[in-house]
Amino acid sequence: MLKLPGLIDPHVHVREPGATHKEDWDTATQAALAGGVTLILAMPNTQPPIFDENTLSLTLQAAERKARCDYAQFLGAGPANALEVARLAPYAAGLKMYLDQTYGELRLDSMRLWEAHFQHFPVSAPLVVHAEGRTLAAAILFADLYRRPVHLAHVSRAEEIELIRAAKARGLPVTCEVTPHHLFLSQEDLPAGAAEHPGRAEVRPRLATRADQQALWANLDVIDCFATDHAPHTLAEKDSPQPPPGFPGLETMLPLLLTAVHEGRLTLEALIEKLYHNPRRIFNLPEQPETWIEVDEDAAWEIRSQELFTRCGWTPFEGWKVRGRVRRVVLRGREAFREGRVLVPPGFGRNLRPPLYADLVSEPHECYL
Ligand code: NCD
Ligand code: ZN
Ligand code: ZN
Repeated sequence: MLKLPGLIDPHVHVREPGATHKEDWDTATQAALAGGVTLILAMPNTQPPIFDENTLSLTLQAAERKARCDYAQFLGAGPANALEVARLAPYAAGLKMYLDQTYGELRLDSMRLWEAHFQHFPVSAPLVVHAEGRTLAAAILFADLYRRPVHLAHVSRAEEIELIRAAKARGLPVTCEVTPHHLFLSQEDLPAGAAEHPGRAEVRPRLATRADQQALWANLDVIDCFATDHAPHTLAEKDSPQPPPGFPGLETMLPLLLTAVHEGRLTLEALIEKLYHNPRRIFNLPEQPETWIEVDEDAAWEIRSQELFTRCGWTPFEGWKVRGRVRRVVLRGREAFREGRVLVPPGFGRNLRPPLYADLVSEPHECYL
């Protein structure tokens, strides 16, 4: 049995508030535990989006009641909330800026709308961008101009990873993540069922060419983190005429990567670096004491959507034969998952940022004194 640290996934779409028929704080965090992930960072493109104190408080209240693993919540950058999100920075995972078209309402089209956020958001707090192709080049320029760290989400193409290598070589403060689906799928290797149901191949960034995919593997040393971009939509939605982009990924990431380890395409050291040490450093996350996962490295099994905890009901890796299975998860001293069963109740998960209303949480009566 292999013992690993509890994994950190810095890119998860929990869907609550607003779309709990796809997923919610309960099912997303059960899927996380089943995948060996003990800490998720939740994205803000919900309905409503998380962009001010009220909406942050709304999602944190749901998380406090329902989450089973630990978490922190991102704020979303809007056209007029730079001062508000800068003020809320200590209570959030960081700021997410959507600079290209994707799912949800949050998007900053003009580079002039980026400026206020780069000016005001604290340099010490994480800033993540969804930026593809030339937009990614512009985001790297902003990191240089404003001399602040920028984390580049779901990098998928050769031109992007090569540009990031060059930027890092020049000492620019950028880090990046790559998803399992961009490592294991491409336009030539589509998800299961995509031939009959083209919506099942829809994801942003789009699945790239095989050459792009190979470039990601060839530049593993430039990749700081693996992140699922767990973006659940129901099968009915995926198979509809207007399929929303996104794949679930929390329960399939580790087995896919352990299969790559088994095949000699990835080292276990690199896996731990990109799923634990680097995300902890980049997102300023505290240690989770007495937390680890136990994995049967050699267990061969087949991915089946019926066995997954995600509410969305499908996986792009249906029928894939993988090696490596999570047997047990211990989170802050409690057995949280064992042999296919989640053992901690809703509300066991902790927000790893300070509480938004510290006085109310720790000293409920103080304000009346
Ligand atoms: C994400 C979603 O569904 O929220 N979709 C996706 O295809 N990745 C949005 C995003 O991460 O850009
Ligand atoms: Zn995105
Ligand atoms: Zn995403």
